[in-house]
Amino acid sequence: MTKGIYIVGTDTDVGKTVVSAGIMHVLRSKGYNATYFKAALSGALIDKNNNIVPEDTRLVSTLSNLKEDYQNTTAYIFKTAVSPHLASKIENIEINVEHIKEKFNSLKNKYDYIVAEGSGGICCPLIEKENKVYMLYHLIKELNIPVLLVSTTKVGSINHTLLTIEFIKKLGINIKGIIFNSFKNTFYEKDNINIIKKLTNIPIIATLPFIDTAPGVQKMEESLKQVSKKLFQAESLIEIMEKI
Ligand SMILES: Nc1ncnc2c1ncn2[C@@H]1O[C@H](COP(=O)(O)OP(=O)(O)OP(=O)(O)O)[C@@H](O)[C@H]1O
Ligand SMILES: [Mg+2]
Repeated sequence: MTKGIYIVGTDTDVGKTVVSAGIMHVLRSKGYNATYFKAALSGALIDKNNNIVPEDTRLVSTLSNLKEDYQNTTAYIFKTAVSPHLASKIENIEINVEHIKEKFNSLKNKYDYIVAEGSGGICCPLIEKENKVYMLYHLIKELNIPVLLVSTTKVGSINHTLLTIEFIKKLGINIKGIIFNSFKNTFYEKDNINIIKKLTNIPIIATLPFIDTAPGVQKMEESLKQVSKKLFQAESLIEIMEKI
């Protein structure tokens, strides 16, 4: 039996990868047989050997010592840093839902836990074909997997968080909790969290601090490992995940 969770965001760049890496680090260092999964990654880098490197997958795999081939955990990899539906057109690589599901199912056969990361926000188009648009939330519905929402605490986050939660609920997707990221401990961020708490009945799983990556400061990856160990409990994460 495999259990899973989809890490979705209120927007692109809110910290879905950082959160996924933290969660995967905690799970795998406790000995849980967990993998990462990303259906479509945009903005991959080219390394000095001319290999395409999906940066999200690289960070999560490095932090959690996951040895799986990037091609197995990342169904589609695009260089262009735009929405997958558009990157796929620009790079002439058609996205096929069955291919995404095949990759996901092969991971299910090999791992006990899947931590999947969304692309962009919950309303991210994956495929645009004729007059139809297949969105990230369609995939999440089809995979029948619950979500954890990553949000920030900056000004504007009340609006983004509440709208995303309402939309997820309306879709009938099970939302298991909120993770706030890049918290700088200001009075208005504390108030944002408080208001969101009052207006939703969704558990706040963790609040990750902003990690300073200025020169001379400890590397992001090391700090993230330490922060995650303090904030995430492997057993509680396993509890939140559902059979997929
Ligand atoms: N807590 C944090 N402290 C400092 N920097 C952070 C923190 N969380 C995220 N970042 C930085 O913000 C950027 C975006 O984070 P991340 O890549 O995790 O976002 P994302 O939601 O996964 O984006 P995408 O939609 O591209 O997948 C990265 O450069 C990351 O290093
Ligand atoms: Mg990411």
